[in-house]
Amino acid sequence: MDTPAVSIENLDKYLDGKQILFDINLSIRAGEAFGFLWPNGAGKTTTMKVILGLIRPDSGSVKIFGDPSLSNKTKEKIGFMPENTYLYKYLTGREFLRFNGKFFQIPDDELDEKIEEILHKVGLDSAADKLLWKYSKGMLQRIGLGQAIINTPSIVFLDEPMSGLDPIGRKMVKDLILELKSKGTTVFFNTHILSDVESICDAFAIIHQWHLVANDLVKNLQKPLEEYFIEKIHENTEGEFEIV
Ligand SMILES: Nc1ncnc2c1ncn2[C@@H]1O[C@H](COP(=O)(O)OP(=O)(O)OP(=O)(O)O)[C@@H](O)[C@H]1O
Ligand SMILES: [Mg+2]
Repeated sequence: MDTPAVSIENLDKYLDGKQILFDINLSIRAGEAFGFLWPNGAGKTTTMKVILGLIRPDSGSVKIFGDPSLSNKTKEKIGFMPENTYLYKYLTGREFLRFNGKFFQIPDDELDEKIEEILHKVGLDSAADKLLWKYSKGMLQRIGLGQAIINTPSIVFLDEPMSGLDPIGRKMVKDLILELKSKGTTVFFNTHILSDVESICDAFAIIHQWHLVANDLVKNLQKPLEEYFIEKIHENTEGEFEIV
């Protein structure tokens, strides 16, 4: 069997003495688009941070392309767009991309070319020389997405890439994800938008109250994802559904 792009086994995580993730098991196939759903506070961002080595699991293991140690070689294959991109406000969009590109071994002329390609892809050609503090929310989201692909990653993690975007921006993100996928890039994204999962993803999982409650291929769905989702949440909620 091919090595999964991501494999998570028996993952538990505590934050501030409270258990945030309970025995998460997930396997993401290389080259697929995977949508990670849903309610606020369910544990999506925390799971992503553990996969990326930004926070440590309390137990269990995570491997990216079979590597449990997140070596530099593996890190070079990863792109990441956080939920709230930290941005250097006094850089322009173009400078910000160059700054991020410098973390990788990309020759200067190749990097320059890549920056122009990305600015175009995320629709920021004409805002490329504007300082980031002058960017709108959606423009920041776009440049955040751009920096996630500066190293031509084999796997890209996007934490709610559509949030804050207008319909044109959402279409741009969708097209970009499909393009990445067509080139064999694995895309792992957190989202609340079920229709995007149905139209873009090969596979999805639902995390609810810190437990994984569903994990399947989109093509196996026998009903609209919304209906499926609501059923799963009802089946797996003890007492009132509350966000804590
Ligand atoms: N640094 C922290 N310290 C303590 N608790 C935290 C911390 N970060 C997150 N949590 C808690 O962990 C749980 C999961 O949060 P997480 O950010 O992973 O959710 P999420 O699924 O990404 O939600 P959203 O859809 O709102 O982005 C929440 O109950 C949250 O309150
Ligand atoms: Mg989140």
